[in-house]
Amino acid sequence: MGLTTSDPAEAVVSARGLTRRFGDLTVLDDLDVAVASGEFVSVLGRSGTGKSTLLRLLAGIDDAPDAGTVRRSADPGVMFQDARLLPWLRAGDNVALAGGVDDVGALFERVGLDRRLLRAWPRTLSGGQAQRVALARALASRSPLLVLDEPFGALDSLTRLTMQELLVAVRAEHRPAVVLVTHDVEEALVLSDRVLLLDGGRVALDTRLDEPHPRDRTSPALVARRARILAALRGPAPATEEIA
Ligand SMILES: Nc1ncnc2c1ncn2[C@@H]1O[C@H](COP(=O)(O)OP(=O)(O)O)[C@@H](O)[C@H]1O
Ligand SMILES: [Mg+2]
Repeated sequence: MGLTTSDPAEAVVSARGLTRRFGDLTVLDDLDVAVASGEFVSVLGRSGTGKSTLLRLLAGIDDAPDAGTVRRSADPGVMFQDARLLPWLRAGDNVALAGGVDDVGALFERVGLDRRLLRAWPRTLSGGQAQRVALARALASRSPLLVLDEPFGALDSLTRLTMQELLVAVRAEHRPAVVLVTHDVEEALVLSDRVLLLDGGRVALDTRLDEPHPRDRTSPALVARRARILAALRGPAPATEEIA
């Protein structure tokens, strides 16, 4: 059983009263959130609603909120839309640098990369290969928390499906909690235990998904839920009861 936003006890990461401003713009406004051990939480919201701002604060990349606190049990593995590999290090060394992994080759195979790519330079990798390296790097430290900001957003739709399945499979091994920002409502519904909708600087919607995995993207329940969340994304967010 996961936590609700009001129950930060024993959370892997939690924020209380989180406020973040850029000049006159208040992006996060007294926001509370808590993610339980092993829980998979997706964050949806219109462009510019502060999803990346929230993720940076949860991950500790931004450690200067204007108000509020973030508590985190460990440094997370992180992944972004672009792989952000260090171009002067070979692919394998990019992962080794993250620390905590004895056999980078085995980890490469785990994320579907040929061991020969350990010695590849980042610029020679395809977009999909680079994101697999980035996933390997995020997994390397076996952190109990993965923080992923639209990690599959730049991939073609087939590669995106493959990467979603890969994430589910690799996560099963040590079950880190995941906070995933995505603009893909279906991705959120297929992968997550909870979907949060960010609006007006706060969590406007917090809905729990209990359907067993693997989930059928075409099931009437999932399709109906997707339509309701899309409507909430378009218009003013309705109350939780209306959407759940
Ligand atoms: N470092 C920054 N300086 C100024 N404005 C920023 C900065 N980071 C984000 N913003 C602004 O904050 C808002 C939220 O940005 P962001 O968190 O990236 O949104 P999202 O990821 O939901 O699209 C946007 O209006 C963006 O322009
Ligand atoms: Mg963003």
